[in-house]
Amino acid sequence: SLFGNKAKDVFKNIDSILILAAGTSYYAGLTAKYWFESIAKIPTAIEISSEYRYRDSVPNLNQLVISISQSGETLDTIEALKHAKKIGHKKTLAICNVQESAIVRASSLVFYTRAGIEIGVASTKAFTTQITVLSLLALHLGMVKGSLSRSEYQKHLAELESIPDKVSEILKQEKLIKEVASSFNETSNCIYLGRGYNFPVALEGALKLKEISYIHAEGYPAAEMKHGPIALIDEQMPVVVIATKKGHYDKVVSNIQEIKSRKGRIIAVVSEGDVRVKELADYCIEVPESLECFTPILTTIPLQLLSYYIAVQR
Ligand code: M6R
Repeated sequence: SLFGNKAKDVFKNIDSILILAAGTSYYAGLTAKYWFESIAKIPTAIEISSEYRYRDSVPNLNQLVISISQSGETLDTIEALKHAKKIGHKKTLAICNVQESAIVRASSLVFYTRAGIEIGVASTKAFTTQITVLSLLALHLGMVKGSLSRSEYQKHLAELESIPDKVSEILKQEKLIKEVASSFNETSNCIYLGRGYNFPVALEGALKLKEISYIHAEGYPAAEMKHGPIALIDEQMPVVVIATKKGHYDKVVSNIQEIKSRKGRIIAVVSEGDVRVKELADYCIEVPESLECFTPILTTIPLQLLSYYIAVQR
């Protein structure tokens, strides 16, 4: 199999998953949590490496511990993995980009993301390959566990195969994204909102803006906005909202209406052909339609580009 022969026996006998990671890799893991539970029906917990390694936790030895790291050398994630092993965990899988790395050496199973050398500090292709690999793992686990039929598996796989062409479509909107970026000249704060599968994308979008554009940004689950952050919204505040069709579309549209009524500037990532959000938003960046669960692989791209162009302009 994709994950090596040893993997099959391990995967068959697990009852849950624990993901350990930091930064962008943590957000990739959070996306995977949604997939592992919705596609493979496996209960999944996720912990920030630097918290997990120091706190008392109760190990479940039937759990698969997945550590996610681009470099394979992030100290907190190495130590979190070592801690997991120390308290009894034996089933360990590394999702890693660098083949000769500490996390790979410390794990019994490995799946490489093969993104090529990460030269920039900001994880971009690393994140995209991590979530792609994790989506494949979710499909594979769904098959092993019998929670996904062969036809559903094939349908999801075919969708994954169509993703590169869809990404190419998104890249054609470079000019529009540059224009959106130029509206950030005076910006010092920004909010990112997403729901469901796109909640981790909002977190990752905000991290990219902080990291490369030096603009303060917060990612939130869209519905949480009303529990505090809404107080920050005024005409100075750009709000980047992921509002693709399906899933929670209607709810996100009503979140957008709330932002509008507070005069927030709305930058929306929408599905191709969207009409409702276009009436409300200042800018709309389109992504081609996809199976709802795989939209994060697409919606991430415009947010990476947006941070990039803002950083260049600044
Ligand atoms: O190499 P890792 O994936 O373990 O690194 C973890 C984080 O330091 C990393 O993802 C960081 O958040 C990124 N540079 C953000 O773009």
